[in-house]
Amino acid sequence: MKSGTIALFGDPALRVKAKPVTAFHKKLHRTIDGMKAVLLAREDGAALAATQVGIPRRIVVIDYLGEYIEMINPVITGSSGESDDFEGCLSLPGFSGRVTRARQVTVTFQDRNGNPVTIEREGPMARCIQHEVDHLDGILFIDRMEDEFVFNTATKTKLVVKDLREATQS
Ligand code: NI
Repeated sequence: MKSGTIALFGDPALRVKAKPVTAFHKKLHRTIDGMKAVLLAREDGAALAATQVGIPRRIVVIDYLGEYIEMINPVITGSSGESDDFEGCLSLPGFSGRVTRARQVTVTFQDRNGNPVTIEREGPMARCIQHEVDHLDGILFIDRMEDEFVFNTATKTKLVVKDLREATQS
């Protein structure tokens, strides 16, 4: 995959289970900075997981609702409530689908220097975090959907979730 290219649905890279990061040095920082640049270049992006740029490591960058977060080896250690809402993915540009997720999450991770961090978020940010941690396990939001279609409101088109699931198996 070309550097800076985001894998699209159907790319086997999206089904890879990422390995933990164990070294918190220059190479990791370069990787994170590269991911940040890819994410910030996209107006439609809230977050990016390393698997989406062909890097099988447990790294997530989030730039959403005025907050920028880098998460290394994130683990959701607590959750509560339920929220039913639409979400999208940079790997399926323009489309969104309804997914039921926890309303609130506690997530523990490391920063780029390996320091442990624990945060709690709710609502849309909690949804975003759950979506991204899923990416690190090769899970896509369509896997969690109960509706039959994802929708693109700009082009007024829809895709069949079942077909997408088949197209993204690897
Ligand atoms: Ni995504």
